[in-house]
Amino acid sequence: MRSYWTPVLAGAGYLIPGAFALLRFSCSQLVVERLDPLVNPGIVGSPHLHQIIGGNAFNASMDPKTLDLPSEATCTTCTFAEDFSNYWTAVLFFRARNGTYKRVQQKGNVYFEDSNGGMTVYYIPSYNNTSVTAFKPGFRMITGDPTIRTREEAERYRQLTYTCLQDPMTRTNETLNMPKEPCPAGIMANLRFPTCWDGVNLDSPDHASHVSYPESGTFESGGPCPSSHPVKIPQLFYEIVWDTTPFNDKSEWPEDGKQPFVWSYGDATGFGNHGDYMFGWKGNALQIAMDTNCNGFQCPELGYQEIRVGNKCTKTPAVDEDIDGWLDELPGRMPVTDASGKSVF
Ligand SMILES: *[C@@H]1O[C@H](CO)[C@@H](O)[C@H](O)[C@H]1NC(C)=O
Ligand SMILES: *[C@@H]1O[C@H](CO)[C@@H](O)[C@H](O)[C@H]1NC(C)=O
Ligand SMILES: *[C@@H]1O[C@H](CO)[C@@H](O)[C@H](O)[C@H]1NC(C)=O
Ligand SMILES: *[C@@H]1O[C@H](CO)[C@@H](O)[C@H](O)[C@H]1NC(C)=O
Ligand SMILES: *[C@@H]1O[C@H](CO)[C@@H](O)[C@H](O)[C@H]1NC(C)=O
Repeated sequence: MRSYWTPVLAGAGYLIPGAFALLRFSCSQLVVERLDPLVNPGIVGSPHLHQIIGGNAFNASMDPKTLDLPSEATCTTCTFAEDFSNYWTAVLFFRARNGTYKRVQQKGNVYFEDSNGGMTVYYIPSYNNTSVTAFKPGFRMITGDPTIRTREEAERYRQLTYTCLQDPMTRTNETLNMPKEPCPAGIMANLRFPTCWDGVNLDSPDHASHVSYPESGTFESGGPCPSSHPVKIPQLFYEIVWDTTPFNDKSEWPEDGKQPFVWSYGDATGFGNHGDYMFGWKGNALQIAMDTNCNGFQCPELGYQEIRVGNKCTKTPAVDEDIDGWLDELPGRMPVTDASGKSVF
């Protein structure tokens, strides 16, 4: 395995040496729209804008009682052709000096340059060759919290970070806050989900308490799961490359020296970084991949499709609104707020 596409141990600041099995693959953009079937099921026009990848069965309702993603989707944007899961995050905007907002586009990551936006997804069984239990049909979860605006609160979560890309391969110096200086090759958002499951609940009211971090140590150090959440699940990890390079001219940044990027949920700090997941692999495919020595996007046990095929799987937004002009407000009229909830602009 080529070491530069291995993930970074949080805080350690080095690339993981040696050989271990994992999946790392590209999923192109499915759609960018204001839907959130986890937090606002059934509502067309969720409070904030999302960018979504994966199977095209994604819609506003996605009722867990009846949903069967692999049978309802007719295509996927992911290169593993049996993956009809949906993965989504908020969307980044540039705020100009005149107060208008412009959507920041995503771009393909290292090795996946042909991808139409989207994200890179990892499923990491462990760094110590221990076995993991793949997610079950109906499983869903959220990590991070869009209401957070302080470092202290953000530290409750592990490894929801930003990398200021000096070049596309930069994998050092992850921060909890939005980078403060222009990033020559864009800003990569990194989201690593908890790796222990209660073994019973496919979801929970907050979409998070059915999963947990290890009881001691970390996933990376092989730490044990707590007895409340005894089942080791793969580490789900998103990398999203935001192409902020058209906005790197500091003369267009705020006069007070602050950085200009704002999340679609009204966060200029970056501390509310969060991501959503709905499992939708066909049959036993993910478990088979986790039990096998798969190497990045090379996994002979799994069906594969080229990035250009995934690029063709798209969906018309359910909410018809301008998201790409210079906008007077964030989509959904989302205010940009500080830690006390007050509007900052
Ligand atoms: C979502 O998809 C399901 C299954 O295809 C369908 O029954 C439902 O009506 C759709 N809901 C919306 C809001 O489009
Ligand atoms: C606001 O600033 C942006 C970036 O400089 C510019 O493209 C846009 O036209 C401006 N809009 C207005 C209404 O002045
Ligand atoms: C895991 O197993 C593979 C294949 O057996 C081996 O090459 C690798 O060195 C092992 N890694 C660790 C961290 O034990
Ligand atoms: C990490 O950031 C520090 C402080 O900004 C800088 O001095 C250092 O060179 C960076 N390290 C790498 C490997 O980019
Ligand atoms: C697991 O592997 C990681 C990365 O190679 C290593 O740092 C850690 O010490 C290992 N933990 C155990 C319990 O073997």
